[in-house]
Amino acid sequence: DRIVQAGRIVYRQPLQANQQVTPVLSRVSVGCRGEPTMPGLLLGDEFPNFEADTTIGRIKIHDFLGSSWGILFSHPKDFTPVCTTELACAARISDEFKKRGVKMIALSIDSVEDHRHWSKDVMAFNSETESPLPFPIIADDKRELSVQLGMLDPDERDKDGMPLTARCVRILSSVLSCPVFVIGPDKKLKLSILYPATTGRNFDELLRVIDSLQLTAQKKVATPVNWKPNDKVMVIPSLSEAEATALFPNGVTTKEVPSGKKYLRYTQL
Ligand code: BEZ
Repeated sequence: DRIVQAGRIVYRQPLQANQQVTPVLSRVSVGCRGEPTMPGLLLGDEFPNFEADTTIGRIKIHDFLGSSWGILFSHPKDFTPVCTTELACAARISDEFKKRGVKMIALSIDSVEDHRHWSKDVMAFNSETESPLPFPIIADDKRELSVQLGMLDPDERDKDGMPLTARCVRILSSVLSCPVFVIGPDKKLKLSILYPATTGRNFDELLRVIDSLQLTAQKKVATPVNWKPNDKVMVIPSLSEAEATALFPNGVTTKEVPSGKKYLRYTQL
C-alpha cells in the first residue's frame, strides 16, 4: 500500500500487482498552519492536459474539448441519490450546453463499468431508457486525477474510509491565443466552484454563469447580481468615460451614489 495525501486528506491506497507508484503528490505545499495543502488551479491557469479512462474510452482532455469550451463536473459516487438527480438534470439540459459550444464531462472515483451501469439508472430517472447519457464520465478509481485537480472532499468517505470526490465544477474557455494568427485554443480555467456531497448543484445557474463568462470574454462588461441574458450589464471600472461612450452605442447610464464616484455604470448591449 502507499499513503496518499491530498491537502488535509490522507488515505491508504492499495497497490495492484506490478503497479508503479506515481509521484502524484509532487505539488503538495504547506498552508498557514503548517499543514500540507494542494496549491490547486487558479483562474487563468492552463488546465492540465490529463489522460483518463472514460465511458467513451481513453481520452486526452484537450483533444476531447477540441475548440469547444468545457465543463468538467465531479460527483461523489455512482449509485447515490443526489448525484443521480444532478446527472439526470445535466443530461436533460445537455442541448443548452451544446448550443453554447460547451462540451460536458463528468468525473468520479468509480470504475468505467460502474459508470456505464449507473448511466442507465440516470437516464431511466429521466424516463429515457432508450437514450445513452449524452456526455462521458471519467473513471478515476485510483483517485490520481482527483488529487491532481484538487477535487477530493475531506469530509466524505466511503465505507472503507476512502475519500470521495467533491461536487466540483470547472469551466474551461476556448479563446484563441492570438486572434489574427490562429495559433490554437487555450484551455484556461475560467471558473471553479466546490459544493459538499450533501448539497446538489443548480445546473441552471451553471448555464447562467457560462452566458456571463462567454459574454465578458468578448466585451468589456461585467454582469451584476442575478443577471440574466438580455439584462443590462455593467461597464468595467478600467474603462474611461470616453472609452465607454465610444464602445457602447446604446449609451451608458451612471447611478449617483453618496461618494460622488461614478462607478455604477450600466449599458444595454
Ligand atoms: C448523494 O449523491 O446523494 C450523496 C453522495 C455522498 C454523500 C452524500 C450524498
